[in-house]
Amino acid sequence: MVKSFRPVLLSLMLGALALPAVAADLEQPMKKMGFNYKQATKADDAASMTKYIEQMKAEVEKAKKSDMPAAKKEKFLEGLGEVETELDASLTALKAGDEATARAHLDKVNDLKKEYHKYAKQKG
Ligand code: HEM
Repeated sequence: MVKSFRPVLLSLMLGALALPAVAADLEQPMKKMGFNYKQATKADDAASMTKYIEQMKAEVEKAKKSDMPAAKKEKFLEGLGEVETELDASLTALKAGDEATARAHLDKVNDLKKEYHKYAKQKG
């Protein structure tokens, strides 16, 4: 009788161990977004700009799946979506050989960062 509970108990324990991995927070993807953004703006050729923007996009995707304060989640996702749209526009411009437009879209990403970080710091 008691023995038959063991597998149940074991799976509950393993489940508890796996939880932190699911509820990863925003800090790590944000750090990597910041790093890749800086590298993209510093890059002096289209190929490396493209590489860093693509890496940044992958981190934005991770950020979207992170644990967020419930009250701010909807707005955070909206901001991250806008960042992705600008990154896509930057990649499109790079493909067309228009580095100036690509950089203008990266500037917009910085504006979005400022806007949404301000919102993130607000109370409530
Ligand atoms: C537009 C939507 C964005 C939202 C909603 C957002 C939200 C946040 C939040 C809530 C934090 C605090 C995370 C924590 O410490 O737990 C954070 C930190 C940070 N974010 Fe963002 N962010 C956005 C865009 C960006 C962009 C575009 C960049 C880079 C270009 C960026 C770079 C960073 C960096 C470097 C940190 C500090 C990480 C650390 O060292 O602790 N964020 N962001």
